[in-house]
Amino acid sequence: MRPTPAFPVTRMRRMRRDEFSRRLMRESVLTTDDLIYPVFVLEGQDRTEAVPSMPGVSRVSLDNLLRVAEEAQTLGVPALALFPVIDAARKSDGAEEAWNPDGLVPRVVQALKERFPALGVITDVALDPYTSHGQDGLIARDDPRAYVMNDETLEALAKQALCHAQAGADVVAPSDMMDGRVARIRAELDAGGRIHTRILAYSAKYASSFYGPFRDAVGSAGNLGAGNKYTYQMDPANSDEAIREVAMDIAEGADMFMVKPGLPYLDIVRRVKAELQVPTYVYQVSGEYAMLKAAAANGWLDGKACAMEALLAFKRAGADGILTYFALDAARWLKAGA
Ligand code: PBG
Repeated sequence: MRPTPAFPVTRMRRMRRDEFSRRLMRESVLTTDDLIYPVFVLEGQDRTEAVPSMPGVSRVSLDNLLRVAEEAQTLGVPALALFPVIDAARKSDGAEEAWNPDGLVPRVVQALKERFPALGVITDVALDPYTSHGQDGLIARDDPRAYVMNDETLEALAKQALCHAQAGADVVAPSDMMDGRVARIRAELDAGGRIHTRILAYSAKYASSFYGPFRDAVGSAGNLGAGNKYTYQMDPANSDEAIREVAMDIAEGADMFMVKPGLPYLDIVRRVKAELQVPTYVYQVSGEYAMLKAAAANGWLDGKACAMEALLAFKRAGADGILTYFALDAARWLKAGA
């Protein structure tokens, strides 16, 4: 006679058996409140240029962007993150266009805030759209290493951030990874009377190959050429360093803290939230978006299901918000009860 097998008292599948009990024990939820939509804006009128490596994403002129903003607002997406495509003729070694009060970003910010005052506008603070060499900071003329100078760059970033704030940006987001930029920008904003302008620090921004399609989208890939950003963006091998970066940005007065890229760096999102308890954001970057889109286009993955799973994973890891090119799609899917 065979002995009665000792079945476990605890059966994990009991709670998974029906939708009602699955719902009752669900720990994380994605809502439209978690989404930030990155948009690419160009000069001109009635322009929409598809970004080939990012299916479903376009660079648009201001008039068309206003339509996108209206849709974001109607769907309940809290904020847009603006990325400019700067005409080649306006790029320079010194990136002076970055703080031109009549430049593309200030004009777009003004128009957005005028039409949609309740929609959050986040601007990127970094020099790469404006430099002829495609680096995020300034380089000494004739430096064979093309080393990005830290302290000189801080002065440019401070001017750029104040220019955006004066145009009405709600949040300035330094994505340059220079040391001390949060403190320098905070001082400049405060001296300029912009005490309410928030700083979203890209604190843990890695030197990632997943940014490729973005550099195509803003047209900085050609400028950067064979160059790389290893002397200022973080080494993908490191995790403790990310905690130090966030801790420094807390001390310097940042309000929001970003980990970038997203899915390959969920452990970093988790550590930042668990160890520092700050408002934590994650950027599902262009390459992550491109991978999902490419697989879905081939019929290899269910694009919608995988996008929503990735977004939920960010929440589970501890993110308070997600910058994602899926923001409008996700908001529509959530509305449809998907
Ligand atoms: C540059 C910047 C980058 C991204 C946002 N801001 C690229 C880079 O650092 O080269 C990447 C975003 C994406 O890949 O979606 N300051």
